[in-house]
Amino acid sequence: MTATENSELDTGARSPGLSYQDLLDADTHPVHEVLRLESPKYLGSEDVPIERYTSREWHRREVDQMWSKVWQFACREEHIPEAGDYIIYEIAELSFLVVRQDDGSIKSYPNACLHRGRQLKEYDGHCSEIRCPFHGFAWKLDGNLQDVPAAWDFPHVDQRPDDFTLPECSVDTWAGFVFINPDPDASPLAEQLGDLIEHFEVWNLEDRYVEGHVSRIIEANWKIAQEAFCEAYHVNATHPQILTYLGDVNSQVDVFENCSRVITPGGTPSPLLGDVDLTETDLARAMLDVRVDHESPVSIQEGHTARATLSQMTRERWRPIVGDAVDQMSDSEMMDSLDYTAFPNFHPWGAFNRIVYRFRPNGDDHRSAIMECFLLSPFKGERPPPAEEIKLGVDDPWTDAPVLGMLGKVFQQDVFNMAKVQKGLETTRKPGATFSNYQESKIRWLHTLLGEWVNDDVPVSVGTGAKARQS
Ligand code: FES
Ligand SMILES: [Fe+2]
Repeated sequence: MTATENSELDTGARSPGLSYQDLLDADTHPVHEVLRLESPKYLGSEDVPIERYTSREWHRREVDQMWSKVWQFACREEHIPEAGDYIIYEIAELSFLVVRQDDGSIKSYPNACLHRGRQLKEYDGHCSEIRCPFHGFAWKLDGNLQDVPAAWDFPHVDQRPDDFTLPECSVDTWAGFVFINPDPDASPLAEQLGDLIEHFEVWNLEDRYVEGHVSRIIEANWKIAQEAFCEAYHVNATHPQILTYLGDVNSQVDVFENCSRVITPGGTPSPLLGDVDLTETDLARAMLDVRVDHESPVSIQEGHTARATLSQMTRERWRPIVGDAVDQMSDSEMMDSLDYTAFPNFHPWGAFNRIVYRFRPNGDDHRSAIMECFLLSPFKGERPPPAEEIKLGVDDPWTDAPVLGMLGKVFQQDVFNMAKVQKGLETTRKPGATFSNYQESKIRWLHTLLGEWVNDDVPVSVGTGAKARQS
């Protein structure tokens, strides 16, 4: 059934309680017009086949038809500030070098030697040339062949210079993020990011530094991990402790041209709590995670709300760094989760939430993923160096990364579900996953795009990963 045939199912139903737009009406500061936009999108109600999560063939199709051709966030510009700095970006079994050039531009090459194929680099680092450790073939930073040891034995290499120049991927940047596309003939990055570029003009993510970078291995398909962060519908069951101050079911979900967002209001209680009698001070205590036997560091004055008071505290926290620009920012930008997504796996948050998520397959294994959280913070003066990645293994709790603060506890609850979702999907007799029409519409949108990239009828490549298991 198509979305149009199904459209009678789209009732426009919304949760009771204050809407996000109602909260904006009560904001104590000017509200940016981007937050006033509403773009609900009904994309059909049919189930999404579980093969997308469980089938190795589907994973191989994703590699062949999507990951090999899509723009993907590889690193931040500050990860490779100087000529010769490079990082290794890996997606499934594919590996790419991303190298800062002498003129400040960035190039990317498949991480493979053109002699007999050895990986050129195994670790991020700095080099003056790209020299293969096996027999010593070397390339200039710009990919031109520089040195062939015992060149007298390779007259045939001399005759084929084009075949011995490192092949290039497409590279582009946005807001300090470096994107690569393995396809050298890719269409512009701006087309893939769509409205995201305009929406973020006010938040200047290029003026941030990487204060935290934490990755963790997840025992589930990368989309199971990603989709756990694409809706607030799960908060009631998975994170009940934050209902006191989160308008979970009042989230606004928008699908724009090539980007999507879920805005979840903070500093307002969940309508699911019903008539529970909460004072504004109770709400502030919950938001600040104050122990029951401790005094609250904040008291909410008569006639004021916790949302406005805590927003002002956040403004004062950032004022020494970003200046009086904070006075032009709404309570919403101080308090709410402005969770944007660009296909396929890039999730920058607006304003000062500082979060950027990325989700990838863990090597050539469709039942394992790498979830990452970057914290992008404003700074004053010289840009601090980017934080080292904290790599958490499959059994390591997120709370082992103190830089995440309270987020670590929340992620721990999210991760608790993921491997169980994979297990459930492996055994279910139900052929598809069901999504709600509104609250889960970002996930629906991601699957709609995935279906446009990945064609079931095309034969799949085999892949090489030793970890791969046949489904
Ligand atoms: S494989 Fe790289 S120089 Fe031989
Ligand atoms: Fe969650």
